[in-house]
Amino acid sequence: MSPRPARRRVAVVGTGAIVTGSHLPALAAHADRTELVAAVDVDPARLDAFRARVPGDVAGYTSAGAMLDAVRPDLVLVGTPPSLHREQTVAALKAGAWVLCEKPLCLSLAEYDDIAAAEDVSGAYASVIFQHRYGSGAAHARELIASGELGAPLVAHCQTTWHRDAAYYAVPWRGRWSTEGGGPTMGHGIHQYDLLLHLLGPWTEIRAMASRLVHDTESEDVSTALVRFENGALATVVNSVLSPAEMSRLRVDCADATVELTHLYGHGNDDWTYTPARHVAPGRAAAWRTPAADVPSSHTAQLGAVLDAWDAGTRPPGSGGEARATLEFAAALYKAAFTGRPVRSGEIGAGDPFYSAMHGGHPDWAPTGRP
Ligand SMILES: NC(=O)c1ccc[n+]([C@@H]2O[C@H](COP(=O)([O-])OP(=O)(O)OC[C@H]3O[C@@H](n4cnc5c(N)ncnc54)[C@H](O)[C@@H]3O)[C@@H](O)[C@H]2O)c1
Repeated sequence: MSPRPARRRVAVVGTGAIVTGSHLPALAAHADRTELVAAVDVDPARLDAFRARVPGDVAGYTSAGAMLDAVRPDLVLVGTPPSLHREQTVAALKAGAWVLCEKPLCLSLAEYDDIAAAEDVSGAYASVIFQHRYGSGAAHARELIASGELGAPLVAHCQTTWHRDAAYYAVPWRGRWSTEGGGPTMGHGIHQYDLLLHLLGPWTEIRAMASRLVHDTESEDVSTALVRFENGALATVVNSVLSPAEMSRLRVDCADATVELTHLYGHGNDDWTYTPARHVAPGRAAAWRTPAADVPSSHTAQLGAVLDAWDAGTRPPGSGGEARATLEFAAALYKAAFTGRPVRSGEIGAGDPFYSAMHGGHPDWAPTGRP
């Protein structure tokens, strides 16, 4: 039997809602492979409260740089507001640590390319948290679609219809281009269209609209898009925080079956259904059911996949081209919405205004959408 790999020394940067609610349980679930050794927060009261609730003697810091110098962790989990992600991810990579950073990984393609350059220098990797790609349901659907078992993908709908109130947007970093990077396109629907891209592969063309209909924000509170994929499939995408009946939904009509996922903030096997086309023999459709072992989508599942990659000596999922593709989709959706023109994959390079910022140089954009 090969020896069990050593436990990775982990630091968290940011001790707010997502780190406490999702990263801590993930670390606990992988306690045989991880050890939380340090926590960073600029808010000393939050830091103290966090350290008091975790087991063991976790060192506390109010600066990520000081923590990296003193602790030299193996893995850094970044859960700060989005405008800090690039700087903290690059610093951790330069200190030789792997990074698992909350979405969005950064605010623009230019910032992503800084992270990629830091990866090249350090040899460490940065992955972005998109927990809905992970777990048994998503893995099974991807395998069925990629293998051709369901026939060619033809039409898809990707719907993030969530609801956020004024109190939610009272948090200063939310709804602003410079701190959140955008509205529900960057902050909410990004999970579901990341999963759409994971299932359908590269896209070629996008047309889009965005509006701010309700909230007192800089960025949009709803966006819609039409997408053409390289495999020929057409898709609709909705990213909304204005929808009282909240739902996350993905539907892919393939030549032989419709795949549907209906959930809110996470899915298990029972949330996936496969409906065969009339011409499909019943025995064939029975084999599509998701296998019995239920691994829900979660930070726990994604952290496990990153640790597996580390043990195998490979680039972790959610890093490199995968991370960039989802950010490029966001940039293209904004460019299409702002310019009113279709945007092609690959066209947003250095020099394009939408390369440096999702608002393409128009932070004062005021999409009312109202007559
Ligand atoms: N994956 C998901 O499902 C999911 C869900 C919610 C939020 N998020 C993402 O998680 C991130 C954090 O969101 P949240 O809701 O936990 O926010 P939060 O405000 O609850 O927590 C952020 C924490 O970062 C700390 N912080 C601020 N500046 C810092 C700095 N320079 N160094 C260290 N700490 C600093 C704050 O004091 C706060 O404790 C965002 O990027 C958000 O989009 C992801």
